[in-house]
Amino acid sequence: GKVAVLLGGTSSEREVSLMSGNGVLAALLHHGVDAQAFDPAEKPLQALKDEGFDRVFIALHGPFGEDGTLQGALETLGIPYTGCGVMASAIGMDKWRSKLVWKAAGLPIPAFELLDDDSDFAAIERELGLPLFVKPACEGSSIGVTKVVEAGTLEAAYREARQYDRLVLAEKFIGGGEYTVSILNDKALPAIKIEPATEFYDYQAKYFRDDTVYRCPAGLSDAREAEMRRLAEQGFAVLGGQGWGRIDFLVDEAGEPYLLEINTSPGMTTHSLVPMAARVAGLSYEDLCVQVLDTAHV
Ligand code: DAL
Ligand code: MG
Repeated sequence: GKVAVLLGGTSSEREVSLMSGNGVLAALLHHGVDAQAFDPAEKPLQALKDEGFDRVFIALHGPFGEDGTLQGALETLGIPYTGCGVMASAIGMDKWRSKLVWKAAGLPIPAFELLDDDSDFAAIERELGLPLFVKPACEGSSIGVTKVVEAGTLEAAYREARQYDRLVLAEKFIGGGEYTVSILNDKALPAIKIEPATEFYDYQAKYFRDDTVYRCPAGLSDAREAEMRRLAEQGFAVLGGQGWGRIDFLVDEAGEPYLLEINTSPGMTTHSLVPMAARVAGLSYEDLCVQVLDTAHV
């Protein structure tokens, strides 16, 4: 049957989604799948029904694509779609609520505080220590994220993040390295270590700079690699994840991993991480796209 690759959309990650979606579309076409691009910013979702699509590959990122709203609409239309369902998508888009669930499940997460206009910014700087990260709760690709390095600058970072979301988090910085673990068919793929040349793994480092270093295999001991994969599978399962996704981690100086966030519709650009881990596991980009498409079932 006909497959729609949903791409573009209206979130601030639109440009990333166009890169992801066009990559996926080309791979599916090359595999002989009857696939077409579909941009929900340009057409109502009802057109999926009217134009006779049987399945949807979601390559949208951010709100109205990755946050459960689209998933709910597709459920209502009765069209099978890739990846996580309504609840995991909705909680996963919200870094604050993801942390609350993970914390309740006993999974390790960095210390954090929710910020608002009345926060005692100086007290939070002291409590979490510097540097610290400030993030809008419901964004992706590091949009609106600041690494607060200098005392007295937390409030400015809060104001910046606040432009993107009403919910803003301050998060303790954990300095032993950044990793990510991809999930495919509910199983972890090899961990990747990310070494940005910039201060942190920001939007430019993610998609445009060619000096970010990725290590996969990540160089962890077998025990640490297994632990990180197990934590990723648990973090995915406890949020009700289905199909595929990616969980980002920081490790401390002692090598202990902490879950940062889940991405329920991970990037599929040429610079993206799930394709990199899949390759190390023996799956080409095209194999990966076909396996993700197969997660779309009723
Ligand atoms: N939010 C981007 C697309 C990612 O997690 O890969
Ligand atoms: Mg993210």
